[in-house]
Amino acid sequence: MSTSLEQLVELLNSEQNSNYGSLDELKKILESEEDLLSKCLVFTFDFFSQNRADELKSRFVGKKSPLQDLLKSLKNIPAEERKGAGQLVNQTKQAMENAVTKFLKTYEEHLEQTKIASENEDITLPTCFAKLGSRHPISVVMRDLLVPFQRMGFAVVDGPEIDTEFFNFDALNVVKEHPAREMQDTFFLASEWVLRTHTSNVQSHAMKERGIPLKIVCPGCVYRNEFDMTHVPSFRQIECLVVDKGIHMGHLRHVINELLSAAFGRPVKIRLRSSFFPFTEPSAEVDVECQQCFGKGCRSCKHTGWSEIGGCGVVNRKVLENCGVDPAIYSGIAFGFGVDRIAKDRFAVADLRSLFDGNVEYLSSFSLT
Ligand code: DAH
Repeated sequence: MSTSLEQLVELLNSEQNSNYGSLDELKKILESEEDLLSKCLVFTFDFFSQNRADELKSRFVGKKSPLQDLLKSLKNIPAEERKGAGQLVNQTKQAMENAVTKFLKTYEEHLEQTKIASENEDITLPTCFAKLGSRHPISVVMRDLLVPFQRMGFAVVDGPEIDTEFFNFDALNVVKEHPAREMQDTFFLASEWVLRTHTSNVQSHAMKERGIPLKIVCPGCVYRNEFDMTHVPSFRQIECLVVDKGIHMGHLRHVINELLSAAFGRPVKIRLRSSFFPFTEPSAEVDVECQQCFGKGCRSCKHTGWSEIGGCGVVNRKVLENCGVDPAIYSGIAFGFGVDRIAKDRFAVADLRSLFDGNVEYLSSFSLT
C-alpha cells in the first residue's frame, strides 16, 4: 500500500457512527474500527510526531473515541444477544488498546534511539575548519631576500623609524643645502626629528654603535610623502652595508646578484647604471629586466624594458669619517632596494596600491604560503 502523510491524517480524523440497532451492525462497526487502526499502524515511524502519536491514542482508545461510545447502544440489541455483544465490544476494545499501546511503546523507543544516536557524535570535532590565510606578497619577498644574506653570514639589524635628521641625512653626507634632501619627500616631525626616508639611516647607527668590521642587512619600513601607481607613503626597503679592509665594487656586484635571484625566485637580468647618491662614490642605480615584458618595453616599465629597484655604491669616505671610521684603512659597499617594488615586479602587479587595499580575495589569488 502506498502511504502518504495526507492518508494518515485522513485516517486519524475519520469519523465513526457508534449507534447500531443489531448485533450485525455492531460487528460491522467493530470490524471497521479494527480495519482503520490496522491501516494506521502500517505507517512507518517517520510519519509520526509526538502530536500524531497522541492523536492515534485518542482516536482509537481515548475517552472520546467511537469505541467508548459503543456500549451506550447495547440496549438496542435483543436481550438474549446483549451479553455476548458486550463481551465482543470489550474484547475488541482490549485488543485495540493492546495494539495501540504496543505501537506507542515501540515508537517511544525509536525516538529514544534516534536521540542517543544523534548525541553519539564526537562533539570535540571542530564544527567548521578555520580558513587559513596566506602570506602577503611583500612578506614572501622579504623572507626570500633574507635567505642569501643569512647564508653569507650577514647580521640582520633593526633601526629606528623615527630618527633625527642627523642620522637620516647629515651623517650620510646629505647636507642641509644638498638638493638630495629635497629629492625625498620627507615627513618632518617636531624639531630635528623625521620619519626615516630610507633604511640607510641604519648605516650611520651601526657604524657608530657596532664598530668595524661590519656586515649587516637591515629590512624595515620607511616613509615618504608620495602616492601613485608605483609609490605609497609607507613602504619597505632592505639595506646592506659591508665595511672592512679591501671591500670593493666586485663584492657589491656579487651580493646583488645573489640577492635578486632569491628575491625573484629565479635568475634575473641585472643592470648597474651610473648615478649619484651623496652616501656613495661611485654610485649606481640597480635595474632589473622588466618581468612583465622581459626587456621588450611595456607600460609597467615605462617602455624602457627595465625596472628600477634601488641604489648602490662604494661608501663615500665622508660617510665613513662622519661615523668615526678611518677611510684610509677601511672601505665599504652599500645598497638599498625597494622591497614593495620587487614584489610588484615579481608578481606582475599593475598598481602597487592594490597590495595595500586589504582585499583578501585579491591577495589570496597569489596562493602564497
Ligand atoms: N637610500 C637610497 C634611497 O632610498 C637607496 C640607496 C642608494 C641606498 C645607494 C644605499 C646606497 O645604501 O648605497 O633612494
